[in-house]
Parts: sequence; structure tokens; C-alpha cells
Amino acid sequence: LNKRDVVESILTGKPRSPGRSGQAFAAANIALCKYWGKRDEELNLPLTSSLSISLRTHGTTTDIEPADADEYWMNGERLAPASPIFQRLKEYLDLFATETPLRVATQSNIPIGAGLASSASVFASVALALDRLFDWRLDRRALSILARLGSGSACRSIDGGFVEWRAGTDPDGMDSYGAPLPDRWPELRIGLLLVSKEAKSIGSRPAMKRTRETSVLYTAWPDQAARDLARLKEAIAGRDFVRLGETAEANALAMHATMIATWPPVLYWRPESVEAMRRVWALRDEGKAVYFTMDAGPNLKLLYRETDQAVVDGAFPGVETIAPFA
Ligand code: PMV
Repeated sequence: LNKRDVVESILTGKPRSPGRSGQAFAAANIALCKYWGKRDEELNLPLTSSLSISLRTHGTTTDIEPADADEYWMNGERLAPASPIFQRLKEYLDLFATETPLRVATQSNIPIGAGLASSASVFASVALALDRLFDWRLDRRALSILARLGSGSACRSIDGGFVEWRAGTDPDGMDSYGAPLPDRWPELRIGLLLVSKEAKSIGSRPAMKRTRETSVLYTAWPDQAARDLARLKEAIAGRDFVRLGETAEANALAMHATMIATWPPVLYWRPESVEAMRRVWALRDEGKAVYFTMDAGPNLKLLYRETDQAVVDGAFPGVETIAPFA
């Protein structure tokens, strides 16, 4: 089965001619239990389930309208057809076989390609904007599956709050999508700590593949992911922040350990990343419940409670605060 077949099965009986325009916003999401490793490269099907929290206000707005020729814009700049992002967007939009060329403009308020989950909000907002442009009126599950075909983690950006992406077992991936948890946790805070604006050295797709193929530590990952997912769900249900923070941080470090053990090695950390980790650990030594998580990039996302805002601002000047449930 390929992506095109999945899209066709989802769009059976749906309108195929576009309206005048479609616009949608999708927030980025940060995994507390990471998605790392695919069981199907074509359909972006994961080996393990994952759990994320939405960045609510931080993400991507996409506008799509019919045009004379395909035209892609990102943050106000027209993408050159030879650029990798243009190619990736075109490959995605071509799945929908719309016949009408499209002008697609995405506007993100998070840095692109810095390991801050920008691809998740880009593909989720493109899927949502297409749904509006063509008036498909798809349900959340179908939209999540369509977003997943653009970028795995995008399937967790159709909904807000906590979202669980169940790995599923179907070869066609129709049971692999993001589903929101009902829990709200208004005191939770996420701090975006940009330690480096350098583009990441290697994309998550090739890095995941290399990890799966060459990292001996990856054999331990499925068990850790399953255990951490269960712990996180318990922590969320019981509003146990320390358990949430400890589990998320340990999960992120374990994911990075699998990458470091690949060959050639994958290390996203910069000296500034390690320095920031040490500052988080120093805060914990002082009894402050501040934790971090990291994705495929050098930047940290801090996890803490509203009551520790001043502590975090003091230790990390310039941190950008997000209240995921406010
Ligand atoms: O969706 P992708 O291919 O960009 O992969 C995302 C992988 C991580 O961000 C490192 C982990 C995750 O679950 O978001």
C-alpha cells in the first residue's frame, strides 16, 4: 500500500473541486514520550506509541488557494522549486491529485528546522486547510492520518492538549492516528529555550532510519517507550507533575542515547544544550521541579508549573513561555 492509496480511500465520495480558499491553524506539539523509529517508511507508521502536548499558540497558519501554477510560500518567502522543502510540500500535495495547481502559503511562529516540531504544525495545518478548501468535512481521525503522511508527528497536531498516537497494527495504518486525552492541566508550562538557531545537522527521517538500522541501544527502546507511555498516562490522570517531568526527561535522554549509539553517530546537542541541561539539574538540586525534553535539534523545552515561572525566568533569561491549557 502506498500513500496515494491511503489518500484515495479517505477521499472516496468527497468533493474534488476546490472552493476559493482554505485557511487553518495547527499548533506544534512536543512529545513527552517520543516517536522514534518507523515500522513503515512510506506511510510514516511508528514502531511505538507516543504522547505529546500541544503548544496551543505556537504553530503554523496555512492558506491555500487555486492558482495558475503550484506556488509555495513559507513565512513570506517564495520557495524555489529546487529547494528540499518545496519538493517535500509538492510530493505531499500531489498525493491529493487535485488537478488544479495550488498556491500554498504557510506562516509559522516557531523557528523552522530547529528541532522545534515545526514540520508537525506545517503538515497538520496543510491537511486542515485542504479539508476546508475542498469542503471534505473529514473527521479528526481521517485528518490525523492525512497529516501523518506528511510528517509522522503531524498526526498529533490536529487536536490540542495531550494527544496519544497509538502505533496501531494495520498494515495500511488506518488505526495509527493521534487521539486527544480528555485531561486538562492548566498549571503546566512549557519553556522554549533556543540555545542555537543553527539548522539541524541531519533530519529526523534519515536519523530515525539510521538509528533503527545500526544502534544496538535501539533494541531497548520499544520497552522503554511502552513503560514511559504508561507512566505518563498515570502521571497525567493523577496530576503528578514530578512523575510527568521525570518520565519525559528520561524518555528524551533515552531517545538521544539510541542516536548517539548509531553509526555514523547522530548527536543533536551543542555545548549550549548540555550547559542548559546542567542548569536544569542544578535547579532540581535546589528542590525545584523543572525538567526538560529535547527533539531532533539542539534546543530544550522546559517543563514546569506556573508557580515556578519566576525560577525559570531567573535561570533562563529569554525563555519563551507557553501555557498549553490556558
Ligand atoms: O515527525 P518527524 O519525522 O519530524 O519526527 C519527529 C521525531 C521527534 O520530534 C524527535 C519525536 C516526536 O515524537 O516528536
